[in-house]
Amino acid sequence: MIETDTFYIIPFQNIKAELPMSLVAILDFGSQYSRLIARRVREAHVYCEIFSSDVTKAELQQRQCAGIIFSGGPNSVYDDGAPQCQPDLLDGEIPVLGICYGMQLMARALGGTVELFHGLREYGPATIMPNTDAQNILFADIDTTEPLHVWMSHGDSVTALPAGFRVSARSAHNPVAAMDNGAGLFALQFHPEVAHTPQGAKMIQNFLFQVCHCEPNWTTENVIEEALQKIRDTAGSEKVICGLSGGVDSAVTALLIHKAIGDQLTCVFVDTGLLRMGEAEQVVHAFRDEFAIPLVHADAQDRFLQRLKGVEDPEQKRSIIGNEFIQVFYDEAAKLDGVKFLAQGTLYPDVIESKSHETAASQTIKTHHNVGGLPKDLKFSLIEPLRYLFKDEVRAIGAQLGLPDEWVWRHPFPGPGLAIRIIGEVTKDRLDLLRRADAIFIEELQNAGLYREVGQAFVVLTPVRSVGVMGDERTYANMAALRCVTTGDFMTADWSRLPYDLLGRTANRIVNETHGINRVVFDVTSKPPATIEWE
Ligand code: XMP
Repeated sequence: MIETDTFYIIPFQNIKAELPMSLVAILDFGSQYSRLIARRVREAHVYCEIFSSDVTKAELQQRQCAGIIFSGGPNSVYDDGAPQCQPDLLDGEIPVLGICYGMQLMARALGGTVELFHGLREYGPATIMPNTDAQNILFADIDTTEPLHVWMSHGDSVTALPAGFRVSARSAHNPVAAMDNGAGLFALQFHPEVAHTPQGAKMIQNFLFQVCHCEPNWTTENVIEEALQKIRDTAGSEKVICGLSGGVDSAVTALLIHKAIGDQLTCVFVDTGLLRMGEAEQVVHAFRDEFAIPLVHADAQDRFLQRLKGVEDPEQKRSIIGNEFIQVFYDEAAKLDGVKFLAQGTLYPDVIESKSHETAASQTIKTHHNVGGLPKDLKFSLIEPLRYLFKDEVRAIGAQLGLPDEWVWRHPFPGPGLAIRIIGEVTKDRLDLLRRADAIFIEELQNAGLYREVGQAFVVLTPVRSVGVMGDERTYANMAALRCVTTGDFMTADWSRLPYDLLGRTANRIVNETHGINRVVFDVTSKPPATIEWE
């Protein structure tokens, strides 16, 4: 991940009067679900950002913050070093919704009591009974005559309410499953952001629209309009370059920038020869011929193959490809005169993740190279128009800007490309063989209507050779593996239960239509313990 200090687009600096977008701030107390809360808010077409828990009220007010959501978190409020919030955030001026730890923090900060209640810990599914007398606005338009299914995950509970609060729901064992003060402070002991709380999204929407009076104006059209304005304000009359990878993020970045500043943008496509079937041709054709965006096509296939000759170690492959990519990109960029900005398709999850990685001590499982991962002593300033967007928002923008459907919905692809899906040495023949097999698998998934259902699907070419028989002839050829996973965030993933017929058809076609593969297996390992890619 690249450092992005050089340039930081602060959203909403240049909001135009006719776009009164409200900001909702999510304060992160260390919950694994903070990002999910952000998703729910954005799905309601309200703009939100995740802030660290010590953000000040002045900072939020300056950003015209309409409401605050306190996330859950792994701590007890009594733990040493347990994250706190600035006390004046709870003075009622800005509405607050506390979730789980957020509720306990709110209760404690306002004089209530939080403790382990009769040894009760609630983890997993539970039901709550809203207090119909209290008419908590969070439960508006939800049928509260029956108990509501919710997801709990807590040890401590609120056992005495702060002054001015009332109980707005109880669970079978917990007398305070939700509370509010009727004046802008609301709290839920359960998690409304997860799918296991079926009415949770509605509760969050009630908070956004009934309590915070947000406008649902985070729409694709508005997002585009605002992004264009910000790009124009930033770039002025300077030149910008953008690296294209074949993926949706860099394509949308380029389209947005071109729409904003026209031919001040030049795209650079480093053709590593490691892309999927037809991808390189599609990039060149679409950008040069259809979108008419100035494009430098650096055909570096031979260079990459040369450098990868004889290399079998995955980390060595990754390092070679990363360095070579930077080298080619830099060489091409240096040929262009007076470029000030480099555009990148960094997404909000990358931003959130790299922030949490700054503090986490984690082991390197594999060195991820993003195409476009450039050195820190970069001479360019960065423009990152997708920096506050989630993937589905980027897809919606791409579709709106005319990116072909197959491109918009293409599965993610690793920076080192097919090189890390060929176990052992990477050669031109092996690349061509893998490309063909991969295209067959993808075509079969599409024909079965399953391509968009799964997170990622691809073929891995192994160096294992086995004996087969075709016609009356003995074959001794490679084994390929089908990998297909279902995942939300690619941090964990389950292998997809694909229909046997589809697997059988795919295997049959791969063996018949390629020369060099005579056996196909299906990878049934989840992540963890495996990773999604094989290398
Ligand atoms: P793993 O194999 O780590 O992959 O479970 C998780 C996701 O990351 C993608 N991936 C990469 N993406 N550069 C990238 O931009 C890389 O070097 C890289 N390695 C893996 C992988 O395809 C999956 O979506």
